Amino acid sequence: MSEQKKVIFSGMQPSGVITLGNYLGALKNWTNLQEEYNCLYCIVDMHAITVRQDPATLRKNARDLLMLYIAAGLDPEKNIIYMQSHVSAHAELAWILNCFTYMGELSRMTQFKDKSNKHSDNINVGLFAYPSLMAADILLYQTDLVPVGVDQKQHLELTRDIAIRFNNAYGETFRVPEPYISKVGAKIMSLQEPTKKMSKSDEDINATLSILDDPDTIVRKFKRAVTDSDAAVRYDELQKPGISNLMTIYSVITGMGMDQIEAEFEGKGYGDFKLKVAEAVTEELRPLQEKFKALSKDKAYIDTIIKKNAETANYLATKTLRKVQKKVGFPPVMR
Ligand code: TYM
Repeated sequence: MSEQKKVIFSGMQPSGVITLGNYLGALKNWTNLQEEYNCLYCIVDMHAITVRQDPATLRKNARDLLMLYIAAGLDPEKNIIYMQSHVSAHAELAWILNCFTYMGELSRMTQFKDKSNKHSDNINVGLFAYPSLMAADILLYQTDLVPVGVDQKQHLELTRDIAIRFNNAYGETFRVPEPYISKVGAKIMSLQEPTKKMSKSDEDINATLSILDDPDTIVRKFKRAVTDSDAAVRYDELQKPGISNLMTIYSVITGMGMDQIEAEFEGKGYGDFKLKVAEAVTEELRPLQEKFKALSKDKAYIDTIIKKNAETANYLATKTLRKVQKKVGFPPVMR
């Protein structure tokens, strides 16, 4: 990693095929950062087990997600793309940070509240302590910027608080990271309930769009997307959340502003608009899907990437971990 460049860290949970929300809110932006920054992109399998996962499916999803990162345009020679569970420093630092994180802080996290409502039979300690593991992910690499969607902002604020608290107690140890949230697309909404965010775990398959959906499915889901009875393509998040969400999707993909989109569809019906959005999404995802298919056939190449990047991540993470262990007073390991 070049010393002069700033460090970017982000991650996704391999808890299913990622959605158009994950792609537009995070992954697509990551690909624009790889020249200017030193970037680490993690597949956070340790976070994923905070809700029950089938082991074989988790293994497959983790590998698929790594291939999707590459298929979306992340160059594995320029970015450190790796599995969280391959770098044990994440768990070790998370433990230390748990001792600097308050129960009150964790119980205020909206993701914890949402997930514990959804999985009321399994409100485990890992789900509760999820944000201190996330803080460890970020702080291990002396990260400057964290590109995420809006839903992760609260976790990042907590990460900053933990870093500042630790630095105040032990002297400068962690760089205090900043969130990096794009203006448009940072919160893509459900296609069926457009006041709710699009989420991998939604039970209604028509509510989400997987980035591996085929063109027919994409058209069908957009045709069924919930809109309103007003029939004017106009941006108004409060009164017209469905249409505004489709406009956001179209805007992030085409780069057009909302007024340009309104002008393009002036006097046209929702049917035309929905088809145009579906077409734009299909064309956006086509190269990614083709690359993903090709990568799926190259097991040896993917294995090499996984191994090599885990080594680099381990090297970097261990540097920070050793510093932290020393500061809190752990006796040095005798060699
Ligand atoms: P996860 O796996 O839920 O989501 C991955 C990324 O996708 C963004 N995102 C969205 N963006 C726009 N619209 C949506 N509907 C939408 N849904 C999800 C998320 O904001 C995220 O950027 N806790 C994290 C994973 C994580 C992490 C980290 C992220 C673990 N450690 C360290 C950054 C840094 C999560 O659950 O993301």
